[in-house]
Amino acid sequence: MHNLDALKSEILASFEAAVDIPALEAARVAALGKKGRLTALMKGLGELGPEERKATGQALNRIKGELTDALDARRNALAGSVLDARLTSEMIDVTLPIRPETEGRVHPISQVLDEMAAIFGDMGFTVIEGPDIEDDFHNFTALNIPPEHPARQMHDTFYFPEREDGSRLLLRTHTSPVQIRTMKAGGPPYRIVAPGRTYRCDYDITHTPMFHQIEGLVVDEHTHMGHLKGCLIDFAKTFFELPDLPVRFRPSYFPFTEPSAEMDIGCERKDGVLFIGKGADWMEILGCGMVNPRVLEMAGVDPKRYQGFAFGLGVERSAMLKYGIPDLRTFYDADARWLSHYGFSAGDVPSLVGGLTQ
Ligand code: PHE
Repeated sequence: MHNLDALKSEILASFEAAVDIPALEAARVAALGKKGRLTALMKGLGELGPEERKATGQALNRIKGELTDALDARRNALAGSVLDARLTSEMIDVTLPIRPETEGRVHPISQVLDEMAAIFGDMGFTVIEGPDIEDDFHNFTALNIPPEHPARQMHDTFYFPEREDGSRLLLRTHTSPVQIRTMKAGGPPYRIVAPGRTYRCDYDITHTPMFHQIEGLVVDEHTHMGHLKGCLIDFAKTFFELPDLPVRFRPSYFPFTEPSAEMDIGCERKDGVLFIGKGADWMEILGCGMVNPRVLEMAGVDPKRYQGFAFGLGVERSAMLKYGIPDLRTFYDADARWLSHYGFSAGDVPSLVGGLTQ
């Protein structure tokens, strides 16, 4: 009996000495495991005589019960201190100042495209898109710009390498090829706007090799020049948020419209700053005209029955004018400080940032 008491004390001490859960588990195995010291004694019971076996067996069972209780208590204590340690080390200091989160901004080009699409959308236009990589037919020939036409030189086209049949794909120089794609895809009437990227090999203070346009096409049986003017004047006043914005149409030339015009808005330059809406100066914002009957014909639309107008508007120019952005090239510098200054919060205006519908 004395031996058993000593053994119990030793084992209890080994439990107390365990500093963490794995150490406690090792102490448990050493005492109560398959080859543990107490287990060995229990296995030895069979060799004792009946009286002694009973007494020793009871004593061993009692000790085992006590040890199991002590083990549980120690395990709980250790688990508690592990939790305490975690709670202290992972404590959240609610008095710390918050980390500055950098909020994303909507680029002025995305913003302005959304605003334009929303305005034309209200006028009943559908927004569609065409490919950036075009072929000669859609970018030039079908728009009444045959090979050798001087307008081809004016466009400073980016060409892809020649293909086996001698033809070359190109980066579209304007959004006007979407007119052709729209007309070839189905019959009139049409009332679409097509925003997107356009490319010309040009780089200076007012030109970047990639820029944006929004194309418009309206074709119906009776659409005339008055509709063109009304639509574009309403658009400009709404977009620039100036009900009295002065506008003028200047005769111009495009191979795909006849007659053609450019639309200017009134402005004034004072000490290097541009003000729109007043003053003696004019600023061009778009090209437009009545769709050339030859273009309708090439796109499979009967020019005797249908007529309409088209326009192509420079998006960067409009963004610069409306939001007072002085240098075109900064649009594409990818400078986060510039974007945080000139960019917009998501939700500032009706936004189509999630994508355009075809
Ligand atoms: N595509 C012309 C340009 O890029 C603009 C335009 C479009 C003019 C439609 C008339 C009609 O300059």
